[in-house]
Amino acid sequence: MQLTLRDITKRFGSLVANDRISLTVEPGEIHCLLGENGAGKSTLMNVLYGLYQADEGEILLDGEPRKFSGPGDAIAAGIGMVHQHFMLVPVFTVAENVMLGNESTGLAGSLDLDAARRRVREISERFGFHVSPDAVVEDLPVGVQQRVEIIKALSRDAKVLVFDEPTAVLTPQETDELMQIMRQLRESGVAIVFITHKLREVREVADRITVIRLGKVVGEASPKASNAELASLMVGRPVELTVHKDPPRLGDDALVVEGLTVADETGLVHVNDLSFTVRGGEVLAVAGVQGNGQTELTEALLGLQQHVLGSIRLDGHELVGRGVRSILDAGVGFVPEDRQVDGLVGTFSIAENLMLDRSFGKPFVQLGAVDRGRLRAFAETKLKEYDIRAPGIGTKAGNLSGGNQQKVVVARELSKDLRLLVAAQPTRGVDVGSIEFIHQQIVAARDSGIPVVVVSTELDEVVALADRIMVLYRGQVVGIVPADTPRDVLGLMMTGERPTEVVA
Ligand SMILES: Nc1ncnc2c1ncn2[C@@H]1O[C@H](COP(=O)(O)OP(=O)(O)O)[C@@H](O)[C@H]1O
Ligand SMILES: [Mg+2]
Repeated sequence: MQLTLRDITKRFGSLVANDRISLTVEPGEIHCLLGENGAGKSTLMNVLYGLYQADEGEILLDGEPRKFSGPGDAIAAGIGMVHQHFMLVPVFTVAENVMLGNESTGLAGSLDLDAARRRVREISERFGFHVSPDAVVEDLPVGVQQRVEIIKALSRDAKVLVFDEPTAVLTPQETDELMQIMRQLRESGVAIVFITHKLREVREVADRITVIRLGKVVGEASPKASNAELASLMVGRPVELTVHKDPPRLGDDALVVEGLTVADETGLVHVNDLSFTVRGGEVLAVAGVQGNGQTELTEALLGLQQHVLGSIRLDGHELVGRGVRSILDAGVGFVPEDRQVDGLVGTFSIAENLMLDRSFGKPFVQLGAVDRGRLRAFAETKLKEYDIRAPGIGTKAGNLSGGNQQKVVVARELSKDLRLLVAAQPTRGVDVGSIEFIHQQIVAARDSGIPVVVVSTELDEVVALADRIMVLYRGQVVGIVPADTPRDVLGLMMTGERPTEVVA
């Protein structure tokens, strides 16, 4: 089935999220929709799926204009969506999940579980999915759960399949498998819309690429285009994609972690007997699929976890048992993974957010009063330096886009007098253009001679910044390996497999 979107416009108040976007996807084609965060990709797909109504424009299937007043209509017309956050019921089996909501196709109208199981088996065999109809969803790895979503869509006879940032939650191997599945679906004539901002993936599977920026189509690109070309189309200016860094000038052992174990209130262990050392002037990058103890590790370093065993010494001083304030005062900079919760106060201005944590003393507070002039000058400088897009330093942080919020946090943390930098997902949600700048700042922190711990689920980011890489799996160290370790080895380690030869 051919899908055509013609001049789709969708507004949210005064914001034009989609501005006359046109797009055609042919059967048997993988059409990549490439664009930075906030470009309007998900909005466009939600219009297609009937979740939003377009203010203007048309959806055509095989040339016929169609109207979808909700997802039910879209599904019935042959549109399938693989969501990033799976819509599956964890305690149900695969077949039960496929049956759920399938009433419209008649497949499950009679709640015929056997029919659903047969259908799962049939689709699974046809595409080599290796999914058992009787497996309970919560027992399956994320990559397989995603396949269940695909099976669910195919069981409803989807002819157009939309994947919205499907690889965000996958290991590199699972990503490769997904690419293979998309190719198979293409072979069978499905029209595929693949949304991503990862250039590597686009280049691997795309037949056609449409780039959107700020709600508008800015061009079609050839799958043969270079990363630099694609990135500059996305961002609207040339972008430096590699991080330039000199070999590290290693100092002494600065951060020494021994036997670190972190549990939650229920006693569940999230970090299990972790030991590692980071030297001054060195970046240790922590790799792993999200949810393998990274969050708890960074929080423990900051004194944000309650149930901690073992030892964390910074420049010889024990941090375990100390409060957050005391740890920050010891010179620890922290870029938290969830800036909305830990990094910013949305109702405060940019300027105020830039001095959070510092309101206790110099340089902005002298004799108990805030030095307004000094704060203003500092904030103005950071706004420029970090290219924070806002009308001014008085703009409330909550009104900034995600990428600009992130820049405020990074600017604040990196302008402190640091003894240690802990950066968790430092460029999450940040556009390609700003990633470059933030990476340079992290490298500059390392070159100032302090130890740096970077945690990232983006392997590209890990590889770009690391002097050494520590891979975590289920709260344990799988290995600590050199930065030039091949990606496929790292990918395997992220699934818990120990490398045959661990070089620490
Ligand atoms: N329900 C909504 N209400 C208001 N603004 C929205 C809504 N959904 C998305 N937006 C805004 O529309 C723009 C496009 O968002 P989105 O389509 O999610 O981008 P993408 O998927 O490309 O990252 C963003 O500026 C976003 O803040
Ligand atoms: Mg999106």
